[in-house]
Amino acid sequence: MPHDSHLSSIAEIRARARRHLESGAVTEEYKADRAQVIRILNELLATELVCMLRYKSHYFNAAGIHADAVKAEFLQHAREAQQHAESIANRIVELNGEPDFNPRDLAARSRSEFRSPPGLIEMIRDDLVAERIAVESYSEVARWLEQEDITTARLMKEILTVEERHATDMKKFIARLLEAQKPD
Ligand SMILES: [Fe+2]
Ligand SMILES: [Fe+2]
Repeated sequence: MPHDSHLSSIAEIRARARRHLESGAVTEEYKADRAQVIRILNELLATELVCMLRYKSHYFNAAGIHADAVKAEFLQHAREAQQHAESIANRIVELNGEPDFNPRDLAARSRSEFRSPPGLIEMIRDDLVAERIAVESYSEVARWLEQEDITTARLMKEILTVEERHATDMKKFIARLLEAQKPD
């Protein structure tokens, strides 16, 4: 049977699938540097875990007359950071890697920092910085893996959409708080 020379024949695909069954979802078609992808995904996992802890800290420590609306947002963002951490851990497992949840060097592996300053506006500023780091990271990794690891690239894009919303949320709260602080 003639077939497009760029595509594999059914017999080739069947034979390849039977080799290395222990690799699960990772086949010979996987084109990325798997060890490097796992290392970067572990960095992003640490970033999400630190993000979750920072938002939780801000949720419980925020105080003042303007805090209530922002607190609800902090909690929501903490939950979404946890979901992101779980999706990333899941992808690391699919790639036959080990998601690193060890708290000992979490802060060092995280791309954003854990800070919990006393002022509400300072908290939100730190969160905005962290969200901007997340936006840049997910964009970069999505572009890097676009051709070589389609599933990871798609996951990065899904998370990126949420991070852009988070950054926009934080920017809005800063504007609102600055407005409220203005003398009449
Ligand atoms: Fe996130
Ligand atoms: Fe976020």
